[in-house]
Amino acid sequence: MKKYTKILKFPKDFLWGVSTSAYQIEGGNKNDWSEWEKRNAKRLAENAKSYWSAEQQEKFPEMFDPENYISGTAMGSYDNFDKDLECLKELNVKAYRMGIEWSRIEPQEGKFDMEAVEHYREMLQKLKNNNIKIVLTLWHWPLPLWISNRGGLTNKKVIQYFTKYAELIVDELGGLVDYWVTLNEPLMIIGHGYLDGKFPPNKKWDLLGSLKVFNNYIKIHKEIYKIIHNKFFDAKVSIAMTTGFLEPAHKWNLIEVLMAKIAYYFRNELFVNKVKKQLDYIGVNYYHHDRIVWYPPFKKNLNKEVDDRGWEFYPRGIYEVLKKYKKYKKPIIITENGTADVDDKFRPRYIREHLKYIHKAIQEGVDVRGYFYWSLLDNFEWAEGYWPKFGLYSVDRKTFERKARPSAGVYSKICKNNEIIS
Ligand code: BGC
Repeated sequence: MKKYTKILKFPKDFLWGVSTSAYQIEGGNKNDWSEWEKRNAKRLAENAKSYWSAEQQEKFPEMFDPENYISGTAMGSYDNFDKDLECLKELNVKAYRMGIEWSRIEPQEGKFDMEAVEHYREMLQKLKNNNIKIVLTLWHWPLPLWISNRGGLTNKKVIQYFTKYAELIVDELGGLVDYWVTLNEPLMIIGHGYLDGKFPPNKKWDLLGSLKVFNNYIKIHKEIYKIIHNKFFDAKVSIAMTTGFLEPAHKWNLIEVLMAKIAYYFRNELFVNKVKKQLDYIGVNYYHHDRIVWYPPFKKNLNKEVDDRGWEFYPRGIYEVLKKYKKYKKPIIITENGTADVDDKFRPRYIREHLKYIHKAIQEGVDVRGYFYWSLLDNFEWAEGYWPKFGLYSVDRKTFERKARPSAGVYSKICKNNEIIS
């Protein structure tokens, strides 16, 4: 067993936090995702047999139940924010990354639900009262139905729609926000919504659609950046990038070296390059490492250790990504990093090891300002539904009671002491 003896201190004012997204925890939302779930739950439950490994199927039999794929009341966070607040206090976090749900705020075009806005204001105010800084995500994937019915993200008008929604939020709630995330992992929705067809709108190899969405994203981000900065000149605005560390499986194989370079560029840098003048910091979501090979399926990971989702444990990758982002000379915040581990055997080490590599990057001059563990709570994991458990807290979905996993205690200590024992 590994002995931990070295104390690694983090910079003063390092922003320790946890992340969630509105749709994955709130419950009671109606949008393109909620409708998609109803149409697809049965299919997803049936497909689980051919999709997941025998171990995963045995450990998570709920993946065969269509109900697993219906977000429904989720973790009840919209009506139980005080319960989440208690967890945040227990964790000693200095910041909370949370989202607001566009479809709740604007269920019909131009008809804003001001009660919902007030509800969010109260939540933000409570965080402020408890000295918890706010990182607010404006869009974490679902779209109001009136937009998805008009072509969703491929429709140019989505820029104008998003602008109106953002103007309202900036006017009403902007004074309470410390950091903004305009778009969460924009490329993920292109990948799963328009290329491999896993997420709504289930398009496969729709290259034209992907290009349209990509261009709309860029315009949206630039517009919203302007709106926020016009009102709050010193605001901190970014996107949350879906990063990954991609490397050639064989360093001597020039084809793999080239393929890895191209893949790395598309995944981590292209979007940042397009909006770099409109980034006050870079939001980094890090989960993945891939060893690129020249033959299909083009990646071959060693997978010495994987989590419940089958995602490889490769903490060094976060360091590699951070080192490569240094060239942008911008502050960086790790807006997401986490693991699905229902037994919580692996999570404490996962957190510590990633932080060790973040610390190393900081020592080597990368300006990392904060770390947000994904996630505060178990949540609705999109097309996988409820079975993967990312939370520091588990949730009883009948009573909405939150229960700390042991790793919550580990993380709470790290946040309090501003250090890890490595
Ligand atoms: C997304 C989250 C998701 C997490 C784990 C990230 O890519 O932003 O919404 O829950 O991955 O799957």
